Amino acid sequence: MLAKWPVAGKKVLLTAAGSACAGLLAQWAKMQGATAVYGIYRSAQHLPALLNSGIIPLSSEDHRAIADAARRVDRVYDAVGGELATLMLEHLNSRAALISYGLLSGKAFSPRGRNITAQRFHLRDALAVTPVEAWRGWFTSLWQILPQAELPEATVYTLEEWRLALALFSEPGRQRKPLLKL
Ligand SMILES: NC(=O)c1ccc[n+]([C@@H]2O[C@H](COP(=O)([O-])OP(=O)(O)OC[C@H]3O[C@@H](n4cnc5c(N)ncnc54)[C@H](OP(=O)(O)O)[C@@H]3O)[C@@H](O)[C@H]2O)c1
Repeated sequence: MLAKWPVAGKKVLLTAAGSACAGLLAQWAKMQGATAVYGIYRSAQHLPALLNSGIIPLSSEDHRAIADAARRVDRVYDAVGGELATLMLEHLNSRAALISYGLLSGKAFSPRGRNITAQRFHLRDALAVTPVEAWRGWFTSLWQILPQAELPEATVYTLEEWRLALALFSEPGRQRKPLLKL
């Protein structure tokens, strides 16, 4: 996503800021020269970590702050969709891009905003039409920068404990990833 919609010199807004994907996006956006990274979070448990990482936190309840940030930013990477995506699309400026890469709310939204139309990014779309050598190259380059990245801790479960793994997965504000050991 960062290669397709570069962020050098740009202000970036991320949703589901406590997620692993948003964490990587924030770290790599800064590495690539983003001038500010805003993060919209749902659960307050994420606040300390966001502040520690230099992300400007915005509560998903604070619609006015989200609208203000949306007017200022150049890139939005959105994994929530629904009303939140609609709110941002209503306020984004005409030079901005909103990239929808997830739908955690489970709610669709109209991609047409006041000034821009949302774009979609899904690895599976790209993988289906990309030669094997090319996507192996993407993984190789990502693999090389992952050891320096901060990633959430994992809690390991056996296959028999799959219910516990699912329970952890759906815990609001969780800081860890459940990992099934098969
Ligand atoms: N497009 C692609 O190619 C691609 C590839 C990989 C992942 N993804 C997408 O990236 C997103 C994040 O994945 P992940 O593995 O990084 O997630 P994760 O680490 O498991 O974190 C999930 C996060 O989503 C938040 N969340 C869940 N339901 C929400 C809702 N209804 N509204 C707002 N926030 C909500 C949770 O917030 P709380 O802490 O408040 O519970 C949590 O911070 C997912 O949508 C996934 O499908 C897309």
